[in-house]
Amino acid sequence: MMIGSFFKGKVRKTMFITLEGVEGSGKTTVAQAIMAVLKGRGYDVLYTREPGGNKIAEQIREVILDTTNTDMDGRTEALLYAAARRQHLVDVIAPALSKGQVVLCDRFIDSSIAYQGYARGIGALEVEEINDFAIAGMRPDLTIFIDVKPEIGLKRISQDQFREINRLDLEQLTFHQSVYDGYLALARKHPQRIQVIAGEQPVDGVVADVTKLIEARLQHAAATE
Ligand code: TYD
Repeated sequence: MMIGSFFKGKVRKTMFITLEGVEGSGKTTVAQAIMAVLKGRGYDVLYTREPGGNKIAEQIREVILDTTNTDMDGRTEALLYAAARRQHLVDVIAPALSKGQVVLCDRFIDSSIAYQGYARGIGALEVEEINDFAIAGMRPDLTIFIDVKPEIGLKRISQDQFREINRLDLEQLTFHQSVYDGYLALARKHPQRIQVIAGEQPVDGVVADVTKLIEARLQHAAATE
């Protein structure tokens, strides 16, 4: 776990969990359900997502997701995501972890590696490097990849009339296919940190699988405290 070095000695048995997946994978729905379950079991959990209600990160994100910014360079996009991530980490995630909370974050570094590194073709290592500068080598303790194929996810989105369309949603299916392949490559590279959950089953099943996994990790962390 890299959190110890990040907090320079102020190590606590807390947990930083991230959720990942392609568009329409149901991360947000699953996150809400998991939050309710974990809170009900007495865990002090914080749910957040980039930009996390943070004003500076929010402003950066507006630039990234503006559908009129069609000429944004891929590296500019990657740097902006890394900058927003830094601000969100410093202002929201790090304080929560140092208070001993469990943090559940919707998307983090693996989104950048999958979207900018793989799908935009900037390169996984290059994107990892700029993120390492931004977040000082920190990694989540556990990353849950909700495995939904892009064609299924995009179909779900097209049926959701309330969902706001952003610049990355406008990409073609081949882009989202590369995002998906990127996630699978990351999961193979980090089999301990990144856990793959079957996401095409009914949402109750996804929630049950994810909750079981998180609880097992939390109990293991408590037992080794
Ligand atoms: P958002 O509306 O949060 O999408 P979702 O509900 O699917 O999480 O928009 C975030 C978009 O930005 C989404 O298309 C994924 C993309 N993204 C990146 O390309 N790189 C990143 O580092 C992050 C965090 C998101």
